[in-house]
Amino acid sequence: MEIVKTKSELKEKLSACRRRHQSIGLVPTMGALHAGHISLVSRCVAENDICVVSVFVNPTQFNDKSDLVAYPRTPEKDAAMLEKAGCSYVFMPEVEEMYPQPDTRQFHFGALEQVMEGPYRPGHFNGVAQIVSKLFYAVEPDRAYFGEKDFQQIAIIRSMVAQLQLPLEIIACPIVREADGLAMSSRNQRLSPEERKKAVLISRYLSESRTFAAENSLAATKAFVEQKIGSEPLFRLDYYEIVDGRTLQPLKSWDDSDYVVGCIAVYCGPVRLIDNIIYKSCK
Ligand code: PAJ
Repeated sequence: MEIVKTKSELKEKLSACRRRHQSIGLVPTMGALHAGHISLVSRCVAENDICVVSVFVNPTQFNDKSDLVAYPRTPEKDAAMLEKAGCSYVFMPEVEEMYPQPDTRQFHFGALEQVMEGPYRPGHFNGVAQIVSKLFYAVEPDRAYFGEKDFQQIAIIRSMVAQLQLPLEIIACPIVREADGLAMSSRNQRLSPEERKKAVLISRYLSESRTFAAENSLAATKAFVEQKIGSEPLFRLDYYEIVDGRTLQPLKSWDDSDYVVGCIAVYCGPVRLIDNIIYKSCK
């Protein structure tokens, strides 16, 4: 495994791979890696000749600057985990390498960005699209891997790829959870022991809601989750939405779509956590 710091060095290495007709997979990350990230890397290693993992805390997607400062950074540990997982190249650029000048591009995602995370994190998805498009231009991967943990992010990236007509495949990978069910996240490290114990209730209530959903309406199921989360003093709910898995628009009835997903964002103490559950899948 090699650690690469600049786009030009990366381009040079990858064009040699391409001349050898090797396929290239990319896993974009912000580091502080855990088993959720590694599941994407393992799939990328299995499906491509060359696996590139980017580790870059992207400033333009942080609408809250204190969140950017507090974001965990563990580059040595990340490199060791990636080496073990079979990664070929780790791309770890400095901010100036990715943003030699301010990125003034404005993406438009229409209804996809007007729901869920959109209103709570203004500018976030534009920043994600800026960095992910730059990574796609730098790596020119055949496939790129993203986690369903960030369900809305995948829809945004698919839309960006379609708008820019980029010739690559987006692969969505399932959520990896801790043994007790909490969705793995770099932010979990910031939970106090008491908050960590409570945080498990998010995935538990989502999973209970799936049983509840079998005999109740969509509105009642949404209210079930909102009420359960609302009754915990350590939680502050941003939203719980039951949406179509492709358009991300809220649904009125279970029969309105063949792909139904419930997405939640909730503060556990000071830490904002997201999770989701698939009620109905067309796959
Ligand atoms: P980051 O939060 O580091 O996540 C990198 C990738 O790992 C994302 O695709 C995310 O969905 C996936 N991931 C995180 N936790 C996961 C889990 N528990 N199970 C499965 N996959 C998981 O998402 C970002 O970084 C950034 O927005 C990025 C796309 C890198 C752009 O800066």
